[in-house]
Amino acid sequence: MAELRGYLRGEPNSILFLHGPKSSGKTTLMYRLFKQIIQENAYEINFLNLRKVFLTSYDDFIDAFFKSTEQNKGIKTGTRRQYSLFGMFKLDAFTERMLHQKKEDPFLVMEREFQRLQKKDIQPVIIIDEFHKLDGLYMPDKQKRLMVELMNFFVAMTKESHLCHVIIASSDAFFIEQVYVDSKLRKTSRFMKLDYLEKEDVFTWLGDVGKYNKVKEYTLDQGQIELIWDTVGGSAWEIYSILEQLFQRSLTEIVDKIKREKVAMIADWCFRDPTGGRVKVLELFRETDVLGIRAFVPEQLNTLGQAVKDNILYYDPLDGVYGVQGKSLEWGIKGYFDVENAA
Ligand SMILES: Nc1ncnc2c1ncn2[C@@H]1O[C@H](COP(=O)(O)OP(=O)(O)OP(=O)(O)O)[C@@H](O)[C@H]1O
Ligand SMILES: [Mg+2]
Repeated sequence: MAELRGYLRGEPNSILFLHGPKSSGKTTLMYRLFKQIIQENAYEINFLNLRKVFLTSYDDFIDAFFKSTEQNKGIKTGTRRQYSLFGMFKLDAFTERMLHQKKEDPFLVMEREFQRLQKKDIQPVIIIDEFHKLDGLYMPDKQKRLMVELMNFFVAMTKESHLCHVIIASSDAFFIEQVYVDSKLRKTSRFMKLDYLEKEDVFTWLGDVGKYNKVKEYTLDQGQIELIWDTVGGSAWEIYSILEQLFQRSLTEIVDKIKREKVAMIADWCFRDPTGGRVKVLELFRETDVLGIRAFVPEQLNTLGQAVKDNILYYDPLDGVYGVQGKSLEWGIKGYFDVENAA
């Protein structure tokens, strides 16, 4: 939170790209930030979670970015129907129609709104979660990738005209690398990684589930906490899931089930690639959970990209390394190859 607040304090100068493995808490953090600064009058914050949005065409993008909000939908002010962008920009029905008819440039519409806000001394902030979902969409002329155009626009809004803060979150940092290659945007972004919880925090948490989770039915001893850490690491979501199951099952039973599930998941993922390329990539992660780009050959790039997209591996754009998305998946990989060897 402190790092994010620091970013917002300055003049808009770069895009902030928040990345990190599956379920590390990116969305939770963004919502927390949203809640905090929406109460302050200095910012106009616009949060768009693309996971909740159906996106297959340019029109879907226009709908998602310029849709009227529930509360002012259909409310007529004077003779013009008011709409808002991310619940912020007051757009009239005419502009929206022009956008849909592609007679109005959505980027110009946004820029005009940013300028209007800045004149009122209000700092616009845009947060887009699950940004990678825009991949595969094209501009109306079908030549340009929407995501690249949007990134170029955000560069203009941050680095060049300092009009608006832009925070983009995604667990897929591989795709963003592709965008940077295409549009030479790399130096215009700041990367922030949100990783799983630290060991110390997990031990403090699990050492007092009564206090942190209001659990009265059981407590966990050091051995059990070790076993949980050893199985899922600092993945809060998986820890919660274990704590819930502990009401019905023993920890060893739960841990065994998690590991079997992950082996099955890896087996399924590998099975879907008849060339055997996926197996070759994952085999490299048997002994280590992080590998630099030099461990691979260029032909493996597509498989690596797919692994990141499917949340098997994560990509860290800062260090240029690939890692397994979580400790439980490391068990899955180990288990998968041990079974292969045994067979
Ligand atoms: N700091 C935290 N402490 C405890 N639990 C947390 C914390 N951050 C997140 N969680 C929990 O972890 C789960 C995953 O969080 P969240 O959905 O925010 O992750 P994410 O990084 O956005 O995941 P994805 O990669 O799927 O988008 C949620 O159930 C959330 O309640
Ligand atoms: Mg998320």
